[in-house]
Amino acid sequence: MKKRIVSGITATGQLTIGNYIGAIKNFIKFQDEYDMFIFVADLHALTIDIDSKNLRENKKNIMALYLACGLDPEKTTLFFQSDVLEHGIMNWIIENRTTIGELQRMTQFKDKSLKSNNKDKVKTGILTYPALMAGDILLYNPSLVPVGKDQKQHLELTRNIAERFNNEYGKTFIIPEPFITKNGSKIMSLKDPSKKMSKSSPSAKSYIALLDDPEKAYKKIMKSVTDGENKVYASKEKEGITNLMTIYSELKGFSFLEIENEFKGQDYKKFKDEVGKAVKSFLENLQKKYNDSIEKVDEVAKNGAIKARKLAKENLKIIYKKIGLK
Ligand code: AMP
Ligand code: TRP
Repeated sequence: MKKRIVSGITATGQLTIGNYIGAIKNFIKFQDEYDMFIFVADLHALTIDIDSKNLRENKKNIMALYLACGLDPEKTTLFFQSDVLEHGIMNWIIENRTTIGELQRMTQFKDKSLKSNNKDKVKTGILTYPALMAGDILLYNPSLVPVGKDQKQHLELTRNIAERFNNEYGKTFIIPEPFITKNGSKIMSLKDPSKKMSKSSPSAKSYIALLDDPEKAYKKIMKSVTDGENKVYASKEKEGITNLMTIYSELKGFSFLEIENEFKGQDYKKFKDEVGKAVKSFLENLQKKYNDSIEKVDEVAKNGAIKARKLAKENLKIIYKKIGLK
């Protein structure tokens, strides 16, 4: 039997090229080999202030982008998290196998809450988010969870919860492994390359959205923040250039060494022009497919939810028995 993969992306904004390189590209690589369950994490999106119209649009966009990027609903179960009600019950079960201390130690919680200017407005869901995520995963009992580097700590927590549960109730869960690509697991902001490129950033110049106008995306690359050295090579001190090299390498399949050789003796303008062109042509191709995909979303999500619910129900039944709800 094929091993299982589970992963999702939060429906909080436009997907970026960071989401593609750090997450979706891996999903596609795995879909022949694994039994895949990939969802749009719309329940997770409720942790930020998001209006209903935006949420509805984001959800649909992400599903359509999954399809346009190459996820095949014949091979991969694609669904909306909120269509599988079992995620809600699983969340409650997991919350009660997790301590407040564990949740407070998550760096993402610290970043989003303690550093918030408006601490009174931080929602409970910001704290309990990793329990919902652990539940999303364990509900399907997967072997592997492909995520970007920023999600590694949440996955470690999931593994701890699974181990604790197995010790208490007998072997129930496979301890899921994270899959994090070395290169490209963290695409950085174009304006501040010390920060992650994020779809929830207030400045649209800091990210390339997958639905950006390709010409505008080219310009964003041309204007991205680098350094004054004008020599193309990767280094910790050259975050901006290293980030562009990563994007170029992921889109074109070249190694860093090959890129350094290609641009030996050339200036940043020439390098940025090539990266910009690669991004532009990637977006053009993707967006052609996106227009067809958007029409398929409802049907794909409906069928996906039926398949996902079947497995979620079976697994939840086992968990109910173990903990005494049945
Ligand atoms: P999010 O957009 O935070 O819901 O992330 C969805 C998936 O994309 C997760 O696996 C993230 O780790 C990954 N991801 C998000 N932003 C980036 C980025 N800038 N670079 C690499 N991966 C990312
Ligand atoms: N928290 C993840 C993110 O923001 C999205 C997510 C929710 C997820 N549930 C998940 C990823 C389960 C993997 C598995 O990136």
